[in-house]
Amino acid sequence: MPQRTIITTDQLQKRIADLGRQISHEIPSEAEIVALCVLKGAVFFMTDLVRAMDRDVAVDFLQVSSYGNDTTSSGVVTILKEPQLDLRGKTVLIIEDIVDSGLTMREVDRYIRNKGAAKVMTVTLLDKTASRTVDFQPDYVGFPIGPDFVVGYGLDHAESFRNLPEIRVVE
Ligand code: IMP
Repeated sequence: MPQRTIITTDQLQKRIADLGRQISHEIPSEAEIVALCVLKGAVFFMTDLVRAMDRDVAVDFLQVSSYGNDTTSSGVVTILKEPQLDLRGKTVLIIEDIVDSGLTMREVDRYIRNKGAAKVMTVTLLDKTASRTVDFQPDYVGFPIGPDFVVGYGLDHAESFRNLPEIRVVE
């Protein structure tokens, strides 16, 4: 499967370092932050992002159903793994790898709000801005990208390519 690099490892590291610093400075110092990683794709982004945040951050995980072995949205979001921490009163930073139609993040955002978080914020590494079918806007975006299917740095195609250290377009 031929691929073309669109974001290099160096570009990823620089942008994520800036984003981590920006987010940690913009959230009020008294807020208790829970970084909530949406499995599996966002794991790579999450570990780099929280290490760039120069304050204390708790970490938890959430898994939802997403695409099967296809490249189009299933349209249904199911919670496969719930967060373990008590999110009541916390500032929850939902960390996602990519927002496409916006469906997944809209549902995850709603689900976490219902758990009593004081504030819910969202950050996505990649944003397919032109592909949105529902009204959802992340608070922070690493890189806006086009509609092409991408892999690497956590993003998969049928569970392959997650461990590529850069973002590539599948051609
Ligand atoms: P949405 O619900 O349509 O916004 O899709 C979000 C989910 O679709 C992401 O969490 C990914 O799992 C998957 N996804 C969307 N676009 C891509 C892509 O280009 N490569 C890999 N996964 C993608």
